[in-house]
Amino acid sequence: MSRPVVVLAITGSIAAYKAPIVARLLLKRGARVIPLLTKSAREFIGSATLSGLTGERVHSSAFGEGVAGELHVDLAKQADVIAVVPATADTLARLAAGRADDLLTATALCAKCTVVLAPAMFPNMWSHPATQRNVAALAEDGRVVFVGPVLGEVASGDLGVGRMAEPEAIVDAIFSALSPRDLEGRHIVVSAGPTIEDLDPVRFIGNRSTGKMGFAIASRAKSRGARVTLVAGPVALATPSGVHRVDVRGALEMRAALAAALGPDLAGADALIMTAAVGDYRPRDTSPTKIKRDGKPLSIELVGNPDLLAEIGARRSGALPMLVGFAVETSDEAGLIAAARVKLTSKRVDFIVANQAADSFGRDDNRAVLVSADAAEPLGVLDKFTLADRILDRVVQRFPGAAT
Ligand code: CTP
Repeated sequence: MSRPVVVLAITGSIAAYKAPIVARLLLKRGARVIPLLTKSAREFIGSATLSGLTGERVHSSAFGEGVAGELHVDLAKQADVIAVVPATADTLARLAAGRADDLLTATALCAKCTVVLAPAMFPNMWSHPATQRNVAALAEDGRVVFVGPVLGEVASGDLGVGRMAEPEAIVDAIFSALSPRDLEGRHIVVSAGPTIEDLDPVRFIGNRSTGKMGFAIASRAKSRGARVTLVAGPVALATPSGVHRVDVRGALEMRAALAAALGPDLAGADALIMTAAVGDYRPRDTSPTKIKRDGKPLSIELVGNPDLLAEIGARRSGALPMLVGFAVETSDEAGLIAAARVKLTSKRVDFIVANQAADSFGRDDNRAVLVSADAAEPLGVLDKFTLADRILDRVVQRFPGAAT
């Protein structure tokens, strides 16, 4: 899909202060964001913040600009999704009743796209039968997706269900609404992050992988309808909504977690995407106590870790699970492709996503080349979520029986 258009409608709740964070995350993931403020939202948040962030005019009056009375029609036509963040109890009531007396309700009534609702309100308001009636009516009408509210502390300090979902979860829901469901019924296993090998209780050998690529793939696969198991080394990233995460530390632990996720005879998954930077070596011995400095040089004997992907490649007999490897190199593009080709055969995988270390580690974007037996396709610089989609597109195309 070309750049998706999200009409981000903000209504009058204190949680409105989080809407610019949602806007920022949407922009980072490649969306165009058109802000829409209701009259009461303007009490909580300024237009300048939103126009500065999004580079767009902020709409709030149905009669603001253009041909009078047509703005809601224009916005409804442009929107690939309308996201109401936060959605107050009053907004839910008005949407459920089919009102059209302000720009938001008129746009929503006019639109054919999905409306993502992120309610935020005092817990008693959420649990009130009137609100629950409105939620049920909206769900029955269709084309709406609720994200939250969640259990937590609300602005008053009270605890209950009424707190707005976190911005990342809202953005995941918006991208799910925008996504094809071409991975429905599939189980995708993704490995991510570094592996870490302990030397003693306070020191380890690791690498610079941050896990961003694997987490982006897990998030996109989930949005496209897959069941996703994410085997993650130690990283500081939030779990994408709806993804089953298994945390591991060393390569041997990752091997065991992958075996459990793939199941006997590897029959439990449709694809394995190995983004993890698995450490190739581990110390022969891990000291149970802190290694003390004694002024002399210290040698640490390292032993080889198994090549997890190659082991799985060697065991696979049929077309599934599809196997996707990553190759990180420090050579030029020709060297990168040559090294990827070697890994393609030695690990017996379907394709390799090859990238240079400097282009990928820790960054939000990546310059990658997709290398298969018969092609090397440079993808240019893409943000990691877009790259995740390109990789998943190839996976979908290569599933046995897929239309070409
Ligand atoms: N990989 C693996 N187990 C290892 C090392 C790597 O499963 N012990 C996987 C990675 O997850 C990746 C692919 O193999 O998908 C290639 O990883 P990379 O580090 O580029 O290659 P290596 O095989 O380790 O080769 P080298 O480090 O010598 O380039």
